[in-house]
Amino acid sequence: MSIIFDEKQQILHIKNKAVSYIMEIVDGKYLVHRYFGPSVRSYHKTGIPQYFKRGYATEHDISIPHASFDDLPFEYPVREHGDFRIPAFAAESASGIVYSDLRFSSFEVQKGKPGIPGLPSVFASEEESETLKIICEDPKAGIRIFLYYSVIGDLAVLLRHQEIENTGKKPLKLHNVQSLSLELPARSYDVLSLYGSHAKEANKNRFPLHHGIQRFESLRGSSSPQNQQFFALLSPDAAEEKGEVYGFHLIYSGNFLAQAECDQFGNVRAQIGIHPENFCWTLEPGETFSSPEAVLNYSDEGLNGMSHNFHQLYLNHLIPSHFARRPRPVLLNSWEAMYCDVSLEKIETQAELAKKAGIELFVLDDGWFRSGNTTRTSMGDWICNENKLPGGISAAARIVHEKGLQFGLWFEPEAVGKDSILYQEHPDWVIHVPGYSMTEGRHEYLLDLSQKTVRDYIKNMLHSYLKNGDIDYIKWDMNRPLTDVNSVLLDYNHKGETSHRYILGLYDILNWLKQTYPELLVEGCSSGGARFDPGMLYYVPQIWASDNTDAYDRISIQDGFSLLYPPSAISSHVSITPNHQTGRSTSLETRYRTASLFTLGYELDLTLCSSEELKEIRDQIRDYKQIRSALIQGVFYRHTSPDDNHLMWSVVSDTDCFVYIMQKFHDPLRSHGRFHLCGLDADSDYQNADTGEIFCGDELMKIGITVPLIKEDFHVFFLHFQKMELKC
Ligand code: DGJ
Repeated sequence: MSIIFDEKQQILHIKNKAVSYIMEIVDGKYLVHRYFGPSVRSYHKTGIPQYFKRGYATEHDISIPHASFDDLPFEYPVREHGDFRIPAFAAESASGIVYSDLRFSSFEVQKGKPGIPGLPSVFASEEESETLKIICEDPKAGIRIFLYYSVIGDLAVLLRHQEIENTGKKPLKLHNVQSLSLELPARSYDVLSLYGSHAKEANKNRFPLHHGIQRFESLRGSSSPQNQQFFALLSPDAAEEKGEVYGFHLIYSGNFLAQAECDQFGNVRAQIGIHPENFCWTLEPGETFSSPEAVLNYSDEGLNGMSHNFHQLYLNHLIPSHFARRPRPVLLNSWEAMYCDVSLEKIETQAELAKKAGIELFVLDDGWFRSGNTTRTSMGDWICNENKLPGGISAAARIVHEKGLQFGLWFEPEAVGKDSILYQEHPDWVIHVPGYSMTEGRHEYLLDLSQKTVRDYIKNMLHSYLKNGDIDYIKWDMNRPLTDVNSVLLDYNHKGETSHRYILGLYDILNWLKQTYPELLVEGCSSGGARFDPGMLYYVPQIWASDNTDAYDRISIQDGFSLLYPPSAISSHVSITPNHQTGRSTSLETRYRTASLFTLGYELDLTLCSSEELKEIRDQIRDYKQIRSALIQGVFYRHTSPDDNHLMWSVVSDTDCFVYIMQKFHDPLRSHGRFHLCGLDADSDYQNADTGEIFCGDELMKIGITVPLIKEDFHVFFLHFQKMELKC
């Protein structure tokens, strides 16, 4: 890992064993991108564009003959000088002019990886990371911009963010501050993104990049299930195990824009950052603004390579370290068993059965504070309904603890209902536009987290439940988009900051929670996976991936999320059949296998299970406990399937290989395709833990295993190979 400046060539080269990132300072003032990709020893200006006079192009004060700004690979582009491609930055001066001329000024190399005030970001020690800070300036506009580039060890990722300082005497309005802008050479790329909806999150969307702009975004106030704050540019031959992939991910939970432009000449520009729409940040003289952090990921080992880079980065440098590599308790969640109709009797019965099954944590979901048994009432006051739970939450916690289980509780701290005392007393604490009726979402509204008093209310409320140690886990839910975007406390100059300030407020509360209760296990949730993003994972080690608990649908949802997130961050539950969301029936075995590679829970009424099913659940949990440490330590792979009917995942640790093969339908016309295992030690032997058969590592990887013959629809087939000491 090193950051080198070649003064003669005016080249800045950030490198580790995996990647190189190269920029050139042209004429001492223009910062131009030259390369990002596999590591090179050093750079001598190969691969530079060859310009010639083109018609209808603008002319510039630059020593490169015929270089048009519309064709120059700017490191951090603005639009105002003839580069008409997507800009990374736009600021308005007090005169109302949107114009900046950012010239290279200086740079410095720092040991370590800086944090970003108020925002989640990757952390790393001084020994394992290094940062380049480039300063560009426009003194006339009063703008100084710090471009940050960090590398961590030999990981094939680069962390990027920007800090803007108002060096002038008048306020500046920031309209656009992208976290990352990358120039890639002209060639064919495929684009990969993840789109979805409530109950059908993280679907893969792959298509050839075409001329023009392709963009993925959220303007829903949170990262949203509609688009993940991610995309990748792939070589067209890329698959799970091979090919080149450039991945872009944003460590942020609010509105975002992720886009790629293929320009008139086939050059490609990729960007990711806060969505410029609904965003305008006023920077007073002397103030600074920091963008969220973006992750730039390179893999020449296909999508699995990209996933491994993200998984390593997030497990070792983002997710709370206390939990990141620690097996999580198997939980029973009350939602699909009770919905809002909760009672102490039900809790006691479920906890009793749960304990016998080997479950370790009982989670009381929604309903405990509602005046009725629907989600329509009482949101925001957080007063336990003692008609349902006499003695309150302490009584429920006591019952659960007495059964020998941990106790978890559901909250939706950001929401408020009109019938609440909170709303009656503090209507101004709600995001709304005065004089207009508010848009309801799931019968509720959102609190204005940009207000400190509101954040203090939420912190005090949570503290009142957490302080006596009754609660071992909380589920932090959020069930509606941000609409009627306005904070009554912000004045005219700051209205455009509301959405970002909402997210900063959320992070402030989550940070307080993490600092005050470091041992508390917090699970993120937003109507399922509507806020599944790396920003949240900085505070919470696991996130509920979807309200859809149907194993068949969950397979593709989890497969999609696994592109970016380690399996332990993805919560998955075994629920009742027929499934409550889809009506589909799948075997208990399939439901368990689908959930058990991830963070396992159960979400069903155990009193409805037969004694055979309860025994099966007990056996499942016993088996899971034996392998969960290996699962969390292992490396996760998706495998290219020989057909459309099967999908395979595996986890390979130092000692074991766990294989999960999902079959959609039993097909009498099935072929005898093979899956190839990955990541095994080619020279070691592996024994099938069930049958005792022994195979060589290279045999399993090169020849592969035959798609199993299963005469059942929606089935998950499990194989466990143990690495042997001796070779055959
Ligand atoms: C949405 C969540 O995704 C569900 O798991 C459940 O907690 C409900 N909210 C409760 O209202």
